[in-house]
Amino acid sequence: MESVVIHQPNNLVIEQRVLPVLANGEVRVKVKMAGICGSDSHIYRGHNPFAKYPRVIGHEFYGVIDSVGDGVDNSRIGERVAVDPVISCGLCYPCSIGKPNVCTTLTVLGVHRDGGFSEYVTVPAANAYSIPDVISDRHAVMIEPFTIAANVTGQIQPKENDIALIYGAGPMGLTTVQALKGVYNVKTVIVADRIDERLAMAKHCGADVIINNGEQSLPDWLEVEQIKPTLIVDAACHPAILAEATELASPAARIVLMGFSSEPCQITQQNITGKELTLYSSRLNAHKFPVVIEWMKNGLIDPDKLITHQFDYRHIIDAIEIFENDRRKCCKVLLTFTA
Ligand code: NAI
Ligand code: MN
Ligand code: ZN
Repeated sequence: MESVVIHQPNNLVIEQRVLPVLANGEVRVKVKMAGICGSDSHIYRGHNPFAKYPRVIGHEFYGVIDSVGDGVDNSRIGERVAVDPVISCGLCYPCSIGKPNVCTTLTVLGVHRDGGFSEYVTVPAANAYSIPDVISDRHAVMIEPFTIAANVTGQIQPKENDIALIYGAGPMGLTTVQALKGVYNVKTVIVADRIDERLAMAKHCGADVIINNGEQSLPDWLEVEQIKPTLIVDAACHPAILAEATELASPAARIVLMGFSSEPCQITQQNITGKELTLYSSRLNAHKFPVVIEWMKNGLIDPDKLITHQFDYRHIIDAIEIFENDRRKCCKVLLTFTA
């Protein structure tokens, strides 16, 4: 089989590998499609401190089960599946309270263990979620990015009368906008980004108000409009955003952080306690595949609004370069493995 392997930072090779051996409780997936994410590019470029090389990247993928290991029912062969990349122990404290996404022995496919940019991949059977026929292949591959939004919104429980402010209109901001509008019917969703084309995508995904905060001051605009957001999601992840968010937030607002920067950020107790703000953070997803599969079955979200490119996996270097360099035209890039 062929796999996309990062041997060292900036050294990507499509190489022949032997088929992976199935362990107990695993299934082998013949990959049909996969999605490129920022973290794939970070591993490729050597910017992910957790990555070990060589590594088959890819944590957003969909395919068909073509064989099963001991302990897995043979009837699963032929099943269309999307794979949750979060592998957890089920026993530790975070697992015991429903947060397998921060398991003390967390393993993420495509980061800590070989992932889905490969013709075949073995995964724990429990991570392979059956996809109903009403969900197309292209949509099935988009489940994982929407699970990030499901995790964010699952924590903050948006209400219709929330005034939401989303920083960043990349894939993460856009999936969050779709969840807020399509699933939670939030009346006011404001999106701030520096790139007009990305803001246009946010509008297309349902945002009520878009604002280019590279061209105009977001705090000034909110003040003139007398808007105090009750729900703020930082899907841009610059370390300076938290301080601004605590300034702009309504009393009793919730703020969600999604970033992994190691840079410090300065916030004051006064801004947080004075308004009794709640800070959430969200990492990956905690068993959100079934949630997003329901969203898709019910037509509450539209993954097509994020997909801008599709390539054969043999052209992955071109695909990653477009993904990294053309942020105006490019959002989600899909790779096809088998037709
Ligand atoms: P992206 O880089 O495509 O999108 C980020 C967007 O934020 C860009 O459109 C950029 O123009 C905009 N932006 C940058 N600075 C801004 C600012 N000060 N104000 C407003 N907008 C600003 O990335 P993507 O894939 O959407 O991911 C966003 C972030 O989320 C990344 O930092 C990534 O590491 C993080 N992430 C976190 C996950 C989690 O589970 N916590 C999962 C996936 C991504
Ligand atoms: Mn991703
Ligand atoms: Zn655990």
